[in-house]
Amino acid sequence: MRLDKFLSKATELSRNDCKKILHRGEISVNGDIVKDGSFHIDEVNDEVDWAGEVLSVATGNRYLLLYKPEGFECTLKAKEYPIVTDLIAVPEVLSLRIAGRLDVDTTGALLLSDDGAWLHRVTSPKRHQPKVYELTLADGVNQDTQERMIKEIAKGIILEGEKDKTRPATLSFVDDTHATLTLTEGKYHQVKRMMAHFGNKVVELHRASIGTITLDGLEKGESRFLTDDEIGQF
Ligand code: URA
Repeated sequence: MRLDKFLSKATELSRNDCKKILHRGEISVNGDIVKDGSFHIDEVNDEVDWAGEVLSVATGNRYLLLYKPEGFECTLKAKEYPIVTDLIAVPEVLSLRIAGRLDVDTTGALLLSDDGAWLHRVTSPKRHQPKVYELTLADGVNQDTQERMIKEIAKGIILEGEKDKTRPATLSFVDDTHATLTLTEGKYHQVKRMMAHFGNKVVELHRASIGTITLDGLEKGESRFLTDDEIGQF
């Protein structure tokens, strides 16, 4: 955006007054005084100061759902794998942050936004938003063990290295190796650690939903903006 346009939006001064403050050398961009109104700035990443005050324009926050495929990392800088933001074609994608990371080998619903307060609400265990995971286990589980796991998970279990029990959660089996687990918190590797607690291993993990947000209509690797109702539930 042109600097003069940015200034009139950010300060609500007239175009003429903006010209004056520019000509007086009162405006700096990333620490350098700029007098030329036609100078182009990136209104998200550049810092524009007037009399020691950082100016900003409301750009409107973005809220997205991505159907994360396996083989992508939930991080901002690629290490071993490509990163999830590589899959999203929106401007300034690197200003998006992730709410509730998924492991590289996990697929499913991933929320991203540039609204820090909202991201905090999504991940806060105090909000008790249900997250539904579908999992495949390495070893078949017999009926008695299924019942024991369901009961213990409903009461909460103490994971290795933790002092407190997990929050009550709902486990149901589809067959002896496939189950659905609904959690209202998000400890590190929680699903895999919960199954390890029972001596089993998760070989496939998929997050089907977060609150009311499902992946309906999205293919792996696709993303969409959230609706106002979806945003408002957190
Ligand atoms: N729990 C896990 O163990 N991994 C995930 O990716 C998400 C939840």
